[in-house]
Amino acid sequence: MIDIKIERTTAPKVKPDPDKLGFGNYFTDHMFLMNYTEGQGWHDARIVPYQNFSLDPASMVFHYAQEIFEGLKAYRTPDGHVQLFRPQKNIQRMNRTNDRMCIPRVDEEDVLTALKTLVEVDKDWVPSKEGTSLYIRPFIFATDAHLGVHVAKTYIFCIILSPVGSYYAAGINPVKIFVETEYVRAVKGGTGFTKCGGNYAASLIGQKKAEELGYAQVLWLDGIEHKYIDEVGAMNVFFVIDGEVITPTLEAGSILPGVTRMSCIELLQSWGYKVTERRLAIAEVIEAAKSGRLNEAFGTGTAAVISPIGELNDNGDKMIVNNGEIGPISQKLYDNLTGIQWGRIPDDKGWTVRVD
Ligand code: COI
Repeated sequence: MIDIKIERTTAPKVKPDPDKLGFGNYFTDHMFLMNYTEGQGWHDARIVPYQNFSLDPASMVFHYAQEIFEGLKAYRTPDGHVQLFRPQKNIQRMNRTNDRMCIPRVDEEDVLTALKTLVEVDKDWVPSKEGTSLYIRPFIFATDAHLGVHVAKTYIFCIILSPVGSYYAAGINPVKIFVETEYVRAVKGGTGFTKCGGNYAASLIGQKKAEELGYAQVLWLDGIEHKYIDEVGAMNVFFVIDGEVITPTLEAGSILPGVTRMSCIELLQSWGYKVTERRLAIAEVIEAAKSGRLNEAFGTGTAAVISPIGELNDNGDKMIVNNGEIGPISQKLYDNLTGIQWGRIPDDKGWTVRVD
């Protein structure tokens, strides 16, 4: 059982305007910290005022990127309570990522307690305006001051909180996606299935190119044949072709197993939709778009929620999906998923966890 010492701030910050939150711009009054030392395990769990780190310039994270993170949200319900959405799934994924990155596992119950305690301490920061939430960012990084390439012996686990609006400037309006055919994000045997910062660092060059061309994000193809769809920069991706909902299979190990992805599959199946997880070639999506059989496309993610895709650009070939409008399946998923998350509709699946 984790024992968390709490030191409250004496200088609370002014809270941001809920109409101008954007994503990841503001941080709350407190943060959670815990240290790992080989031979001692995780120790010194504490909540302290939000502050800078003081780290040795030789800290291994700066050089070899032994770092992982997670992303989940706390939501304000209509009766004023605060709840989390499937936090255990994020914590389990964190340990799968830890295993791949040779970072010590965390105790899942302890981390859930840490998340709930930190959100409770900063619960006044959970915004209540429609479409806003408190984004929770747990992360772990290697701190040994050492330049040999080895697994570190010391780590910091930190959780910070950020009140957020929508991830994309477009909000729920369809986003334009650029199909990346030059660079790759992940390969089988690599780290594509983990949430490590390095995956995102490697993706930036594609993201930059897409933004310069006026696109919100990149659609990544598999790293070997550049043929099969993996995922979009900050979200998993679904296509509706002839009424069948298709999403890339996790089997290749190059795709992030999204909690929102999993929840959408479960919701769609409970509504009787045919959902198929399989390898999906970009050529098949293009052919479906050209023959009028691509009904909808959308991305899913904690930050992105449900983001309809209105345009796909494949090597200059532009395909407008569903007239650039949100489709009925994306809308139904958005309404139901956000309904459960924000406590507007009953959670008969037991997905939400109350904080207060
Ligand atoms: C999330 O959806 O929580 C993510 O981590 C995606 C991203 C902002 C990197």
